[in-house]
Amino acid sequence: MAARAWRLRALAATLAIVFKRGHWWENDAMDVHILGSINVDTILSVDALPTAGETVLAAQVTRLPGGKGANQAVAAARMGARVTMTGAVGADADGDWMRAVLKGEEVDVRGIATLAGVPTGAAMIAVDAAGENQIIVAPGANALLAPETAPKPGLILAQLEIPLDTIASAFAASAGPRLLNAAPFIPAACALFAHTDLLIVNQHELAGYADVPAISGPAEAIAAARALRAHPQQQIVVTLGGQGAVAVFGDAAIHAPALSVTPRDTVGAGDCFCGAMAALIAEEMDLAAVLPLANAAAALCTQTVGAIPAMPARAAVMAALAG
Ligand code: RIB
Repeated sequence: MAARAWRLRALAATLAIVFKRGHWWENDAMDVHILGSINVDTILSVDALPTAGETVLAAQVTRLPGGKGANQAVAAARMGARVTMTGAVGADADGDWMRAVLKGEEVDVRGIATLAGVPTGAAMIAVDAAGENQIIVAPGANALLAPETAPKPGLILAQLEIPLDTIASAFAASAGPRLLNAAPFIPAACALFAHTDLLIVNQHELAGYADVPAISGPAEAIAAARALRAHPQQQIVVTLGGQGAVAVFGDAAIHAPALSVTPRDTVGAGDCFCGAMAALIAEEMDLAAVLPLANAAAALCTQTVGAIPAMPARAAVMAALAG
């Protein structure tokens, strides 16, 4: 019953925005600027993830486009946003491929630098039969993405697979909303929180930043997020996997349940959530309407292998919510 109410609320908010614009295709939303990593993902499908010192055999190996920044850029673009990206690749075939993939998704790639003498970022990803994963990233060019102080129009969304200084200078120059997906968990990233308008973390990252042993559900996530808030205006969104997501803002807190699916591959689901959120916030939707849509996008993302290929189109998200 609660899930149905959330769906109706999200659909009503979307219809209100369509009505306000007059035409679905007239996009007067803010630009979404993604500052982040670009990787080529090597995905190994295994029955069970290896434990320390263990060797396991993979049934299949697939090379797919990924990287938290690139994933979020595509998720936002497929949700209908105008997306620009700042990032770095090496002067190699992988870099050329990633640039072409992003361009094919209509992401403005003019802010992607090609750096000589360093490879494009790479990720080795093991995915088990239940869709859970383990990821090791070799940052390559991502680690050399230099700070840039030219302000970008619109909303900015960054993650932590690039240097923290680069994020700090972009946030300092930004006149629009600053969104930070503080993933992967990097303790030093706390220094960015005071300059962040909307912080997005998963329950494990929240436990790390809030310095608590674990977060097991919505009530604990709301309490820990409130305690973590760096300033009273800050909004925090916490993703909880199969338990959906919570948001704290002002004196309010909300919980939006997840869309119920059997995951096939969870790689990129968090990025999908963040990219979809950014696109919807750029349309000035409020968090209560955004959360169910971002949850639905992330659930759909788990139905397909890989990150970028799994990002759903807006129509698919709307259909999943309506169904
Ligand atoms: O969040 C998933 C992403 O993490 C993968 O695409 C991988 O490249 C790493 O950046």
